[in-house]
Amino acid sequence: MANESPSLPERIPYHLAVIMDGNGRWARERGLPRQAGHRAGSENLRRVLRACGEFGIKILTIYAFSTENWGRPEDEVRGLISIVENVIDRELKHLHANGVQLRHLGELEGLSPELQQKVRNAVELTRNNDHLTLNIAFNYGGRQDLIQAFRRIVQAGIPPDQINETLIDYYLYTTGQPDPDLVVRTAGEMRLSNFLLWQASYAEYYATPVYWPDFDREELLKAILHFNRRERRFGLVPQP
Ligand code: IPE
Ligand code: IPE
Ligand code: MG
Repeated sequence: MANESPSLPERIPYHLAVIMDGNGRWARERGLPRQAGHRAGSENLRRVLRACGEFGIKILTIYAFSTENWGRPEDEVRGLISIVENVIDRELKHLHANGVQLRHLGELEGLSPELQQKVRNAVELTRNNDHLTLNIAFNYGGRQDLIQAFRRIVQAGIPPDQINETLIDYYLYTTGQPDPDLVVRTAGEMRLSNFLLWQASYAEYYATPVYWPDFDREELLKAILHFNRRERRFGLVPQP
């Protein structure tokens, strides 16, 4: 499908990470409860996934619920968690049929046993799919990721002189995956909010004022075009 559109940019990020922000503001502007914004946001996922497939993006990481989001009002937290559960229930068959491999970035601990089981089942069912990998960062914190990695490194008795970037990569939630090339944040904020702290160290960053429920194929294309105009230097001098 990627070849059908003549207007596709030359370079497509292999790994795209998205901070899906602005559901609350989207709802408020419509006089709706915040939960309606979260629902609209979850419905937008299918559209963005389809566009990622069309553009040839191989890994999509979405930030769905942070370790800090537990501090929101109880009913909003409950609503957000039930949306994740509904997305798994509603979309799993469709994702699997479309060759999507699902991975969870974050801790299962702290979630209900039913949801833990649903996440495990979804990951297990789709583990051999290779069209596109969808990482759902849920009950996720970038600092928590580093903490759990360091704990397991110590538990494994790894001597200090063997600790290097490759080893730390291996112990992170994203084990086996290349770092994101592009991090997109919707709804305008210019911060990472504890997302992919280690992995995004050389990612390009793109922020758009568009709220997540309105972020569609055209908006994604803009982000990729922007990525194409960037010169990635990785600490070196400009290319002649
Ligand atoms: C993003 O939308 C969804 C989550 C953080 C879970 P928000 O709920 O943060 O929306 P705003 O930032 O209040 O508009
Ligand atoms: C970041 O959005 C977390 C997710 C998108 C899941 P937040 O809305 O929670 O971040 P802050 O509070 O603006 O930093
Ligand atoms: Mg927000």
